[in-house]
Amino acid sequence: GTEILKQGGNAVDAAVATGFALAVTYPFAGNVGGGGFMNIRMADGRSAAIDYREVAPLAATRNMYVDAATGKLTNKSLLGHLASGVPGSVAGMAAALARYGSMPLATVMAPAIRLAKDGFVVDSALFRSLRGSRNALTQFAGKELFYPGGEPLAPGTRLVQADLAHTLEIIAARGPAGFYTGEVADALVAEMTRGGGIITLEDLRRYKAEWRTPIRSTYRGYTLYTMPPASSGGITMTETMNILETFAPLPAYGSAAYSHLLAEAFRRSFIDRNAKLADPAFVKVPIEQLTSKAYARDLAGTIDRAHATRTPAFKSSPEPEHTTHYSVADNNGNVVSTTTTLNGGYGSGVWIPKGGFFMNNEMDDFAAQPGTPNMFGLVQGEANAIVPGKRMLSAMAPTIVMDRDGKALLVVGAAGGPRIITTTTQVILNVIEHNMTLADAMRAPRLHHQSLPDELSYEEGAFSSAVADSLTMFGHTLKRAAGLANANGIMRVNGGWIGVREPRSAGKAVGY
Ligand code: DON
Repeated sequence: GTEILKQGGNAVDAAVATGFALAVTYPFAGNVGGGGFMNIRMADGRSAAIDYREVAPLAATRNMYVDAATGKLTNKSLLGHLASGVPGSVAGMAAALARYGSMPLATVMAPAIRLAKDGFVVDSALFRSLRGSRNALTQFAGKELFYPGGEPLAPGTRLVQADLAHTLEIIAARGPAGFYTGEVADALVAEMTRGGGIITLEDLRRYKAEWRTPIRSTYRGYTLYTMPPASSGGITMTETMNILETFAPLPAYGSAAYSHLLAEAFRRSFIDRNAKLADPAFVKVPIEQLTSKAYARDLAGTIDRAHATRTPAFKSSPEPEHTTHYSVADNNGNVVSTTTTLNGGYGSGVWIPKGGFFMNNEMDDFAAQPGTPNMFGLVQGEANAIVPGKRMLSAMAPTIVMDRDGKALLVVGAAGGPRIITTTTQVILNVIEHNMTLADAMRAPRLHHQSLPDELSYEEGAFSSAVADSLTMFGHTLKRAAGLANANGIMRVNGGWIGVREPRSAGKAVGY
């Protein structure tokens, strides 16, 4: 991305370059076999959002992950060939570049192609993630490349991805048609057919990224541009922040009163999220109502300052962190906030021979059995049931915050499933409500509540033990979490921009 900025590219050019580079260097979550959302704000005042979320294949069925004999959910929405939605990343990034970029696709893809062809040095983070995913990935064709001799690529090894370089070269030459038709599409469908998947050439041919109008909201005079459905990110953040705005000022960070208010606001907005939000092409989403200040005031009125409002409990699932967020700003004031994912780390585990890339397991974001928790413990309803051609509801929340003078102030987002929403909201609150620097705002321990399971998750240091006692007395079930999400952000400061990568994880902020 920086290389493209130095060549005179704008923030969109650099964001697309970064997206393709992550597909090479961060196979864990960067991708061409997945999808994402990009939120763009140009210095001339234009705002745009592009939704390149995966869609359910045409042959998908409502109960495709339910075992007919036992009535129980299988793990097929998570692992293997049936888990993938039709990928959107190539279509989305190309569309964003064509409308808002200034350079040809081949130019912005050149650094990624070089990284695939010449290779890059495996670091300890990639090694550790491969080691952790060994059981899943060695069942599929990526085994030879990522586990030579059965062992994960060791730190210091040079990883050359010739098949992926070839795929990227075809895309650079032919545009999205180079992915959705021709030899890459053939390789993808051949692997699907071989492994019992259902994505067809027709699915690929039909895929379209959708331009959306970002959700515009305000918080104490700041303006936020957030992601509309098929992501729940923007509505859920807006609803939460509108509720919190009615409490002025908010209690101090780390206090029982603050933690309780956050939990209760998130609880309410997630109850709406899980029942009402879905792909707007299939379900009528009450955006106006859910993002209105009046509705938030009503909800705020139902919060008891000293008692948690309990919701029925469900058992939660393990909590992975397998998405990636990146934020870009150029020297003209254009900013781009992008989140992209395969869903789980390395997606479905399925690697496309000749194509050289992993496929997503995004189908798990649907309510595969409405009322039953998915891998994030989210209990979602009918609105998000599986239908062919439908986008599964996301929590991705690439966000742009404008200051009171209307200039881009903060470009932020995160990985972490539903914890994306709560983390991104807290980074923003830390800056504009608690006056933290971006570095402190990112480092500050986080909380999470998603209504069900009815737990208030917290990172070490989020509050003192005395506050924990108060919260327990209020009726919260506290759950210690090791690292709630993976955020990355940049912020305008006097004389320029500061970038802060997630302190809980590997990564880097680069400027020049
Ligand atoms: O779209 C979503 O909400 C999820 N597929 C995001 C997955 C994610 O962030 C994985 N990391 N924990």
